[in-house]
Amino acid sequence: MSTELITQLGYVVASGLFIFGLKMLGSPATARRGNMFSALGMLVAIVAALLDQGIVDFTWIVAGMLVGGAIGAVAARAVAMTSMPEMVALFNGLGGAASLLVGWSALSPDSGTITLVTIVLSILIGGVTLTGSLIAYGKLSEKIGSGAITFSGQQIVNSLVVIGILGGAVMFCLNPTDPNWLYLVIGLALLFGIMAVIPIGGADMPVVISLLNSYSGLAACAAGFAINNNALIVAGSLVGASGIILTQIMCKAMNRSLSNVLFSGFASVSNEETVVEGEIKPITADDAYYVLEAATNVAIIPGYGMAVAQAQHVVKELTELLEKNGCEVNFGIHPVAGRMPGHMNVLLAEADVPYDQLLEMDEINPRMETVDVAIVIGANDVVNPAAREVESSPIYGMPVINVADARTVFVLKRSMASGFAGIENPLFYKENTRMLFGDAKESIATLVREFS
Ligand code: TAP
Repeated sequence: MSTELITQLGYVVASGLFIFGLKMLGSPATARRGNMFSALGMLVAIVAALLDQGIVDFTWIVAGMLVGGAIGAVAARAVAMTSMPEMVALFNGLGGAASLLVGWSALSPDSGTITLVTIVLSILIGGVTLTGSLIAYGKLSEKIGSGAITFSGQQIVNSLVVIGILGGAVMFCLNPTDPNWLYLVIGLALLFGIMAVIPIGGADMPVVISLLNSYSGLAACAAGFAINNNALIVAGSLVGASGIILTQIMCKAMNRSLSNVLFSGFASVSNEETVVEGEIKPITADDAYYVLEAATNVAIIPGYGMAVAQAQHVVKELTELLEKNGCEVNFGIHPVAGRMPGHMNVLLAEADVPYDQLLEMDEINPRMETVDVAIVIGANDVVNPAAREVESSPIYGMPVINVADARTVFVLKRSMASGFAGIENPLFYKENTRMLFGDAKESIATLVREFS
C-alpha cells in the first residue's frame, strides 16, 4: 500500500472517530468515552499527516507525543475545576495561533487565487481567535479587569480596523509577493481580536469562548484548504459547527440574542421594577431537617453558588442520606446554571453523583408538582419565576426550572442579593418558599449532621 493511501485511510478513520466522539459528548454517561475517541482520532490524524509529509520518522512522532502528552496531562491535573473555562480559552487561542502559522507557511510563489484566499482566511480568523482568546483568558482569570472596557468612538475604531483588514486582504491577494500586505492583515487581525472582546463583560465570557472555539475550528478548516489536508478540513468544520451550536444553545437558554451578548452586555439591559408580594420566611437547618426527613421526593437545583461554596461533596452526602431514608432524589440541571456550559454536570460528576439522577430542565419541570421539597442550592436566575410571570422583566421568556410548583421550596443562599442578571426574584417571597440563609456548604453540612 502506498504512503498516500495509508495517509488517506488514516484520515477517514480519524474523521470517523471525531464524529463518534462528538456524538458521545452529547450525554454525560458517554462523554468520557467520547473524549477518548476524539483524542484517539487526533492521534491517528497526526501520525497519518506526519507519515504523508515523509519528513519525520517514528522516533520524532513518539517523542512529540510524549512531550505533548506530558504537558497536557500536567495542565489538566493542575488546573482546578473552577478554572476550566480559562484553560479552554487558552487552548482555543493556541488553536487559532496554529491555524495562523499553518496558513502562513502554505504561502508559496505559485499559490493560486483560491489558495491565497484560504491562506488569508486562516490567518485572519486564527489571529482574531488568538488575541480574542487571550483577552477572554485574562478576564476569566481576573489577570485583567473582568468588566467591559468601552470608550467613545469604539465603533468607529472597530469599523476602521475591519475596513483595513478587508483592504489589506484584497491587496495581499492581488500582490502576493509583497509581504507588507500580509503583515498588515496579521497585525490588524490580532488587534481586532482584542477590540472585539474587551467590551464584553467577564460573566459573558463562556458565550464568547464558545464562539471563539467555533472560530478556531473555522480557521483550522481554512488552513486545511490552504494546505489541502482533508483531516484538518473535517476536524475544523466539526469544531466550527459544534461551537456555533453551543453558542446558540447558551444564548437561547439565557433568552438573549448573540448580538446582545457581543454588543450590549447584560448590565445595560434595562432593569424592571418587579413588584414583589409576600414576605421572606427564613428557616433554620434544624427545622429544614424535619421537613426533609418526612419527604419522599426531593429535587435539588444547583446553581453558581454551589460552585462558589464548593458544596458538591456535601450535597452528594445529603443525597445518600435522603435515599437511605427512602426518599427519591433527582437533580434539575438548567443549561446555563453556573458560569460555563455543563458547569453543574462537571461539579456533580466530580462528587460521583450518578448521571441518571441528573435531569434536564425539560425532564424535571413536568415532575415538579409531585416533588415534596425542591432544594435550590446557590441558584437564582435559573429558578426565577419572573421569567414566566413578569412581562417587563429582562429575563421574561427565559426558560427556568419551575421550583415554585413543588410543595415546599428551600432556597440556600447567603443573603437577599440578586444573581448574575441583577434582578429581584419573586420566588423568595412565595408562600411555599423558605430561605435557609448561609454558605451553602455549611448549611448542607448541618443538614447532614442532623441526618447522621
Ligand atoms: P446566579 O443567578 O448568578 O445566582 C447565584 C446565587 O448563588 C446568588 O444569588 C448568590 O446569592 C448565591 N451564592 C453565591 N455564593 C454562595 C455560597 N457560598 N453559598 C450559597 N449561595 C451562594 O446563578 P444561576 O442561578 O446558576 O444562574 C446563572 C446565571 O449566569 C444566569 O443568569 C445565566 O444567564 C448566567 N450565565 C451563565 C452562563 C453559563 S454558560 N452557565 C454563561 C453566561 C452567563 P448570595 O450572594 O446571597 O449568596
